[in-house]
Amino acid sequence: MKSLIDILDMTTGELDELIAVAEDIIANPEKYAEACHGLKLASLFFEPSTRTRMSFEAAMYELGGNVISVTGAGTSSAAKGESVADTAKTVSCYTDIIAIRHPKEGAAYVTAQNATIPVINAGDGGHCHPTQTLADLLTIWREKGRLTNLTIGVCGDLKFGRTVHSLINAMSRYEGNRFVLISPEELKVPSYVKKDVLQQKGIPYVQTTDLESVMPELDILYMTRVQRERFFNEEDYLRLKDSYILTTDKLKTAKPDLSILHPLPRVNEISVAVDDDPRACYFKQVLNGKYMRMALILKLLREAGKIR
Ligand code: NCD
Repeated sequence: MKSLIDILDMTTGELDELIAVAEDIIANPEKYAEACHGLKLASLFFEPSTRTRMSFEAAMYELGGNVISVTGAGTSSAAKGESVADTAKTVSCYTDIIAIRHPKEGAAYVTAQNATIPVINAGDGGHCHPTQTLADLLTIWREKGRLTNLTIGVCGDLKFGRTVHSLINAMSRYEGNRFVLISPEELKVPSYVKKDVLQQKGIPYVQTTDLESVMPELDILYMTRVQRERFFNEEDYLRLKDSYILTTDKLKTAKPDLSILHPLPRVNEISVAVDDDPRACYFKQVLNGKYMRMALILKLLREAGKIR
């Protein structure tokens, strides 16, 4: 049973194919309006979410399917102590595909091991978030016309930011990309990303604490929120939360064709005035996420033999 737990579960060929399908959905939505007729998505969100949950649900509805959901950690039998494995077996009896977000790293993997239907990781703790990366890839593709030969600045909480880990994994597989990792000392990328991905593959990267000095070199600037819920103490969060605030002033030295991305939600790290800059892509990214999730649901249901 094929599931998407980590972005590396897909080849770059498969990622390119999802982008092509998403582009076709954008151009011809009517072709897909009944593609998942009679099928159900289980939307299991044990952590807060706006975009990821709503885009999965909108995606399934726009494919003609239905959705049943669990939202919030306190409303399902998980609150009574049911294991993730038993939840997976149960949900497999009622639905055709699962999207799960869970605070524990590895929860989506355990779900996939125990479910009899495809499972999509919609974020597992501070680990990874492959479908956000799908939204990011379509956005970069649509803005730049390529996924190769880009200088990608990633700024903010690179330690706990699961979207960052998946993005680095994905973009490291396309030729000629280079990373500029901008974070406070305490929030640098985990060594499993730095050593096992960047260093092992010989991907060029630099680490810095200073956003302004690297601004002129960037093709992409991927801003992120400091992940309050993953901190061990509030004091550290308060000290680090405003480490980077992107303003129109700081963008003066940026390339005219820079693309500014952010997985959202934004707290303080991009000033609202930046939204009017044509280089701001984060709300397009929100919409792109829905199209890529539609393409993904179609692919997994087709591979599971549920649709043609
Ligand atoms: C991200 C997440 O949940 O990891 N949000 C999202 O899914 N778009 C980023 C974040 O919460 O900061």
